[in-house]
Amino acid sequence: TKDWKGIDHVVLRGPQGASARISFQGGQVISWRNDHGEELLFTSSKAIFKSPKSIRGGITICFPEFGNGGSLEQHGFARNKLWVVDDDPPPLPSNDSVGKSFVDLLLKPSEEDLKFWPHSFELRLRISLAPGGNLTLISRVRNINGKPFSFSFAYHTYLSVSDISEVRIEGLETLDYLDNLYHKERFTEQGDALTFESEVDRIYLNSPNVIAVLDHERKRTYVIRKEGLPDIVVWDPWEKKSKSMVNFGDEEYKQMVCVDAALVEKPITLKPGEEWTGLMEISAVPSSFCGEN
Ligand code: BG6
Repeated sequence: TKDWKGIDHVVLRGPQGASARISFQGGQVISWRNDHGEELLFTSSKAIFKSPKSIRGGITICFPEFGNGGSLEQHGFARNKLWVVDDDPPPLPSNDSVGKSFVDLLLKPSEEDLKFWPHSFELRLRISLAPGGNLTLISRVRNINGKPFSFSFAYHTYLSVSDISEVRIEGLETLDYLDNLYHKERFTEQGDALTFESEVDRIYLNSPNVIAVLDHERKRTYVIRKEGLPDIVVWDPWEKKSKSMVNFGDEEYKQMVCVDAALVEKPITLKPGEEWTGLMEISAVPSSFCGEN
């Protein structure tokens, strides 16, 4: 359908009211609501809903490159492309989507893409919504090229929070991270949960497969589970950077935090015919369920 902000999209609905809205532009989740109709993802009030640029918010797919270290545009081209519905996807190894509402999308490189990144691939994305409202994204990258290629990847996820100064992330304690604010220098996180009082732009390496983002004020905890994605990127632009972004409100850094299940430090290399799978599942639960008051 096209009735929402003029963009082609599909809506998944759960039996008790949860929903997810997915744009074909970028294969991007642009809304995810729980059974009470509360929005769980942040989208900027200044977001531009016009291709070919990605919408500021939701969950953007960063592929074949995360960041801006290589020859491609920042975070790769997948988020700026029009994806199609994959009518006949090869079966997934697990029966992960049984009982869920889901959609399968597909991205293949255009002639233009191949000029900048000369590797033929198929990128399949299944997005599913479980009856309780959990959202799962499963990406599969297949090399259909004659030669090996390498890539990095991220589910760049804008979580909606009430006030960033009330947020803490658990599961990253004692990990090494690369700090984008210090030329990717390597540091080690201390023993405490991560809290925010200035700009944060870090790649936590080899993180546990489950981490939690606690929004104290809203008494909500996001639980992020991942497979095949060793790293976690955490980003909040804070005051100064917010002002420099045209598609982002000056004060909106308070209402969001990006926590990305990602594969950044060590890119994957696929030989011809090989496939890689990366999964992220997010749930949003009342904090009391996680031992919080
Ligand atoms: C984050 C990066 O994941 O994305 C930041 O770590 C970057 O460095 C941010 O600024 C937003 O990127 P973009 O291209 O969507 O403005």
